[in-house]
Amino acid sequence: MAIYSVRAMEVRDVSQVSQIEREAFPPPWPATNFKRELSNSLTYYFVACKEAPEQKEPRPAVDALSNPGPAKSRLDSLRLGLRRLFGGQGLPAAPSQFILGFAGLWFMVDEAHLANIAVRETYRHQGIGESLLISAIEVSIERKAQFVTLEVRVSNKIAQSLYRKYGLVEVGLRRGYYMDNKEDAVIMTAEGITSVPYVKRLQNLKQAHAQKWGISPS
Ligand SMILES: CC(C)(COP(=O)(O)OP(=O)(O)OC[C@H]1O[C@@H](n2cnc3c(N)ncnc32)[C@H](O)[C@@H]1OP(=O)(O)O)[C@@H](O)C(=O)NCCC(=O)NCCS
Repeated sequence: MAIYSVRAMEVRDVSQVSQIEREAFPPPWPATNFKRELSNSLTYYFVACKEAPEQKEPRPAVDALSNPGPAKSRLDSLRLGLRRLFGGQGLPAAPSQFILGFAGLWFMVDEAHLANIAVRETYRHQGIGESLLISAIEVSIERKAQFVTLEVRVSNKIAQSLYRKYGLVEVGLRRGYYMDNKEDAVIMTAEGITSVPYVKRLQNLKQAHAQKWGISPS
């Protein structure tokens, strides 16, 4: 059963995402300025995060109104009441959840460019990278991009296999694209992502992925 969910990246996630980026793309690959990216309307960053175990609300030891008790338990009772009343909304932001992976898109006219995608090393091969790619393509379709494109190292067969599964095909080569070892980049693109056949293919792949990893349908 999958124990993670995919959501938009927030400022509180930046330090964990930077850590995952450093692990996946070690220096001298230039670090992304995630804070700047989050305030750019032409980019969209999102994360896969571990779902916190369900919090059991402790029963307050005393009734806060009839017997206020010590200041701390009054405060706890008040927080508990607020949480019950507003379902957690309007309360101070919770600390970041444990981030398992992230991806980022840049939008340019009708193009969605997958700028990066990475999963924590110890959590790879569990369907998380695929979940992130599915979300990336879905967001691209929502934003009316006509094609998804990206660069990937010629040696990165794992990522290429993931992209190929989702209909991205090799359309060119950028010679010496990577600064560290002057490795070539393969340009991969999926065109017509809003077309009926592509959307159907995406739905089928998403369903198969959900079944394989026990993800409830969204
Ligand atoms: C690429 C990456 C994001 C994949 O994430 P992941 O969570 O391990 O991948 P998943 O478990 O979701 O696997 C999805 C698909 O990826 C491919 N894949 C994953 N592991 C693979 C392996 N060991 N060998 C070959 N293909 C593999 C397969 O196509 C797989 O689909 P399948 O299960 O139907 O065979 C991850 O390896 C990563 O973070 N790598 C480092 C960063 C990176 O290279 N990013 C890409 C930059 S362009």
